[in-house]
Formats: sequence, structure tokens, C-alpha cells
Amino acid sequence: MATPVLEIDGLSKRFGGVAAVDGVSLSLEPGRIYGLIGPNGSGKTTLFNCITGIERRDAGRVMFNGERIDGLKPYEIARKGIGRTFQVIRVFPELSALENLLVVTRGGLADAEARALELLRFVRLEGLRNEYAGNLSYGQQKLVEFVRVLMRDPSLILLDEPAAGVNRTLLNDLLDAVRRLRDEGRTVLLVEHDMKVVMGLCETVFVLDHGEKIAEGEPGVIQTDERVIEAYFGR
Ligand SMILES: Nc1ncnc2c1ncn2[C@@H]1O[C@H](COP(=O)(O)OP(=O)(O)O)[C@@H](O)[C@H]1O
Ligand SMILES: [Mg+2]
Repeated sequence: MATPVLEIDGLSKRFGGVAAVDGVSLSLEPGRIYGLIGPNGSGKTTLFNCITGIERRDAGRVMFNGERIDGLKPYEIARKGIGRTFQVIRVFPELSALENLLVVTRGGLADAEARALELLRFVRLEGLRNEYAGNLSYGQQKLVEFVRVLMRDPSLILLDEPAAGVNRTLLNDLLDAVRRLRDEGRTVLLVEHDMKVVMGLCETVFVLDHGEKIAEGEPGVIQTDERVIEAYFGR
């Protein structure tokens, strides 16, 4: 088996009396698409925040390509090759689509612009490159945010509800793009509520409930798991 891209061991994070993430362990292999599901408040975003250094974990380890990254600052973790999107959209409405991609660059602007245009083409938004991001549809803004993450060429990409609120055409563009990233050897972990999206995209799914990982496996198997059904419908 290949060295895991990401290996999380016993990760925990509390907010006051709430165990937002509770002893979660999981391992991601390179070149695969993984799903992270669970009811609202089950700890999915907090897990992303702990991986990316936005929240400080209380316990546990996070290894990226065999190197410990828990304790590093968010920008250090990003530079190592972990990119993420946020559940709440974060584009700059008064910058163009193209400028929204250029804000993350350091160094050679010509190279950055070529890369940004290539990425806008990747999600078929090159024709809107000079449009203010604020004038784009919600789905288009999400695609801009998604490709901005790719400007740094991350090997691990964390997507927090990328499909929510995105129309069917743009959703298909997004799903194609995610598959192509996987085909390039990158690893994707996505939080998603739409089980059709999860079934069509993910090879392995992790299920959280009250901060704990309650199941892991192929999406078809997960859907029939009694603890998973209980977590979603049992209360
Ligand atoms: N910054 C915070 N301060 C206090 N509680 C938080 C904070 N972030 C998340 N929580 C709590 O942690 C739990 C997990 O939240 P979250 O990770 O956002 O879940 P999900 O993304 O699965 O909906 C929830 O009970 C939530 O209210
Ligand atoms: Mg969330």
C-alpha cells in the first residue's frame, strides 16, 4: 500500500462542553476521492479546520506525506500542499474572476496569469474572466473559489460542501473537474450532503456523528449501515 497522503490519528477538538471532533482516525491514499458525511453539527468543518491549522486540536496527530503538520500555522500547511474551500463562500466581489485567482500568488505575475487562465478554462469560466466576481452566479462564484485553491498546485484538496446551491450544469463541470484532479494523482476529501454526488464520485466515505467516526467504506455499503441510518434518521 502507498504511503498515505494524510493520516489522522485520534484527533479531538472541544468547544466548551461540545466534543466537536472526538478521537477521529482516518487515512487517505494518493489519487483517490473520499467523502466526509454526517448530520449537521457532526464535526465535518471542524475536522477540516483542524487539518488546515485554523483550529488548534486538543489531542491527536495529523501527518501529511509522513510529516507531522499539527501545530503548524495555516499558511505553512497551505504551502506544504493542502488546499481547501470554505462552506461559506469567500470570493472578493469587487475583483474580477481572474483577479480573484491572482490574489493568492507570489512572484512571477505572467506565470500566475497563465495559470489562472488555464484554471478558469478548466471550469469553463474563461469567458467571464473580466467580470466582477460579485456579478457571477452563486455557482460560478463557488467554481472561482474552487479553482483559486488550485493556484498553489495542492496535492490534497479539501472541499466543504462544493455542490450546495450549484445548478446542475455547473455541478457537472465541478464533478468533472474533481475527477480530473484525481486522475492527475491528487487526493480529494469532500464534505457533501447530496448522496447522489457522493455515490457518483467517492470511492470511500467516512461518516461522522457527534464528532465520532461511526463508519467507513464504499458509499453503497455505507448507505445500508445501521449506525449511519440511525445517525441520519433515528432522532
Ligand atoms: N467556533 C466554534 N465555537 C463553538 N462551537 C463550535 C465552533 N465551531 C463548531 N462548533 C460546534 O462544534 C460542532 C461541530 O460543528 P461543525 O464542525 O461546524 O459541524 P458540521 O460541519 O458537521 O456541520 C457543533 O456542535 C458546533 O456547534
Ligand atoms: Mg460544516
